[in-house]
Amino acid sequence: KVKAAVFASGTGSNFQALLETDNLQCEIALLVCDNPHAAVIDKASAYKIPVFAFNPKSFSSKAAFEERIVERLQKAGISWIFLAGYMRLVGPTLLEAFNNKIINIHPSLLPEFPGKDAIGQAYHSGVRETGVTIHYVDEGMDTGPIIAQESIEVLNEDTERSLKEKIQQVEHQLYPKVINQLLQQSEGLI
Ligand code: GAR
Repeated sequence: KVKAAVFASGTGSNFQALLETDNLQCEIALLVCDNPHAAVIDKASAYKIPVFAFNPKSFSSKAAFEERIVERLQKAGISWIFLAGYMRLVGPTLLEAFNNKIINIHPSLLPEFPGKDAIGQAYHSGVRETGVTIHYVDEGMDTGPIIAQESIEVLNEDTERSLKEKIQQVEHQLYPKVINQLLQQSEGLI
């Protein structure tokens, strides 16, 4: 199986959903986390997944910590990176080392509501429809080429919390499905 790393900063429900997908076509071989106190690290420990946690403030630049990440990824034989709530822009060091192999999931129908708190932004704007987007990562904020989207209706009775629950349920199904499709396509190219 090809090896993948998940990058996450927070809770890790998407990370957990990937780990709990029986037929995932890759091995999640590493968690990369930019917050040594994030809850996702406990999830990795529970599933015995190796962790590379770092504090960006202890490096002189983004290039400096991304070089360390690339070293660690190469040592672990990682060929794909799946961002799952990694709340940081990916820089040229990682993008060049993993060209077209970095994927992100975002809780809105991009290009609507990029950036932080996409669910809150959508809820408070009053849109009747929002959703989930999976896309290739480039240097922008939630801007790379879109791979898949699934829309979700915002009902009158929805609260911000119920909307978040619905979106996360879709995320947990859609991310493994799209990852498997990508892995199959890239195998076909070899
Ligand atoms: C997810 O909803 C993900 O789509 C979002 O962060 C959440 C992380 O939740 N990502 C972004 O907003 C990226 N711009 P989780 O830690 O429970 O997986």
